[in-house]
Amino acid sequence: MTHVWKAIKKVPFFKGLKDTEIMQVIKIADSRRYRKGEIIFRKKDIGNSFFIVKEGKVKIFTSIGGDKKKTFAFLKRGDFFGEMSLLGGRVRSASAQASEETELYVISKKNFKRLIMANPEFTLKLLQTLADRLTRADREIASMLFHNILGRLAEAVLELAKGKHTGQAKVAIDQSELAQYLGTTRVPVCRAINVLKRDGVIDYRRGELIILDHARLVSMAGSGADL
Ligand code: CMP
Repeated sequence: MTHVWKAIKKVPFFKGLKDTEIMQVIKIADSRRYRKGEIIFRKKDIGNSFFIVKEGKVKIFTSIGGDKKKTFAFLKRGDFFGEMSLLGGRVRSASAQASEETELYVISKKNFKRLIMANPEFTLKLLQTLADRLTRADREIASMLFHNILGRLAEAVLELAKGKHTGQAKVAIDQSELAQYLGTTRVPVCRAINVLKRDGVIDYRRGELIILDHARLVSMAGSGADL
């Protein structure tokens, strides 16, 4: 097994796909590097590529008038994005930015469509992820309508720590990024962080959030406790 092949097999997106199917994807993909902070595309651009995160982190966000931003997701190794405009709307539904040094597989619209038509495993994976994203978006809408800031913060922390070990999981994120993720401003987020710190639920120091009491966080996310 070559070095490159070993690296590819570690990308979670390819788990569950057969070697021949992985080869099919890799053969038609370019690899592109982005510096930290670099914009990959902007909302309303015409969509003509599909991306898989090979290495690094990508922020998906929208700007709401002036300088207000809402972060929809941080995508990591093995996640994909850019499919929506290729399947439906033609233009990008959100912007994408490299949150750190990032390398992406880039697949053209034509090859993406071929892949969908020829490869049911790939298509199933795509649909499962779209269903997960829709479920998450529904949950977030309900949370924005019915939860206060503490419940929303608890939910966001759990989402950001997903896939990490529950024992003292760490999330690197600064307060303004966290505010954008919650669709609010820094002041209420800062107050909410201090409440969770005071109660021993989390610790937060120098841009790093540490979960101290996972069970409390889960119950707060479910109930939306008062600030
Ligand atoms: P597209 O509309 O082509 O460009 C923006 C991309 O962001 C979109 O495709 C999706 O791949 C991705 N995206 C949009 N909303 C979300 C979300 N809520 N969670 C994760 N990814 C998203």
